Amino acid sequence: MKILITGGCGFMGSNFIRYVLEQYPDYSVINLDALTYAGNPENLKSVENDPRYTFVKGNITDEKFVQSVMEQGIDVIINYAAETHVDRSISDPKAFILTDVLGTYTLLEAARTFQTPRYIQISTDEVYGSIEEGVFTEESPFLPNSPYAASKASGDMLCRAYVQTYGLPIIVTHSCNFYGPYQYPEKVIPLFITNLIEGKKVPLYGDGKNVREWIYTEDHCNAICMLLEKGVLGEVYTIGTGYEIPNVDLTMKLLEYAGCDTDMIEYVKDRPGHDRRYALDSSKLRALGWAPKYSFEEGLERTVQWYKDNSEWWKKIKSGEYKEYYQRQYEKR
Ligand code: DAU
Repeated sequence: MKILITGGCGFMGSNFIRYVLEQYPDYSVINLDALTYAGNPENLKSVENDPRYTFVKGNITDEKFVQSVMEQGIDVIINYAAETHVDRSISDPKAFILTDVLGTYTLLEAARTFQTPRYIQISTDEVYGSIEEGVFTEESPFLPNSPYAASKASGDMLCRAYVQTYGLPIIVTHSCNFYGPYQYPEKVIPLFITNLIEGKKVPLYGDGKNVREWIYTEDHCNAICMLLEKGVLGEVYTIGTGYEIPNVDLTMKLLEYAGCDTDMIEYVKDRPGHDRRYALDSSKLRALGWAPKYSFEEGLERTVQWYKDNSEWWKKIKSGEYKEYYQRQYEKR
């Protein structure tokens, strides 16, 4: 099976590529990535020489380029490419509209033209908005609150329309918050871990009581593989573990791992439109036989250890060297 993975140099895409090449000897992967700020080919160093792995630099909004990749014969498109950081969407929404809406449209058109047998859209629980009590299901209405969530919701709506109008074989997934190795240190877990290693304070938004549900990256990878094999085309699946924690409690755990005191917490101004809580009912996915393998404690311990062992990786990012270095390298090729 030949899989086209978009955004494969980012955190989620690169974890998936490593996972799939390790678990499925018959699968090959084409990784199409624009190498924007969070795309880092260093994340895929371990598979760079695998003959089943190909990297192509390009943007999913570039129709001609996407078509040229599709001509290689693709069995599945998995769209990981996205602008994902809520705070960035507040200061610069345009990039989100381009990648998450126009980019999705371009991929859907390519899937339509080439009659691709399967397309998986990686999306987020944030499209449903905030929920104080209870859980979101696949039937919950879209009520996005940030430009990021609105752009992902728009891409997902396009997927729905392409199922209904053109009968495209699409599965849309809405996941809770991911964490694990190689996550760009702007998201709360890697930002806080690396700040504490550096002896810096951690900026906790608002009262710190916002709640998130968390999934370890490998569990998300095996959920996607489960959907590749058993997911019903045209359907929507939420991906969650049921593990919820308020940000302040998560911060306390990270302080404990780092051997730091609560005086390392800096309560800062809240994020505008900050969703209070996300929570998912993932029984539809579990009915296919999926269950998370990692408890939050196990996943978090592994994650903290990874950041301790790979300080070179995140220090380059934090000092702003990475992006420029790799852009130059690929421009030369
Ligand atoms: O729910 C899934 C979503 O999770 C994904 O679709 C998004 O791409 C991903 O960015 C993530 O969104 P969040 O806004 O929940 O993630 P973030 O790591 O930015 O923030 C997690 C929580 O921590 C949130 O309530 C805001 C808070 N926070 C975040 C940062 C970066 C802080 O208190 N301080 C911070 O410095």
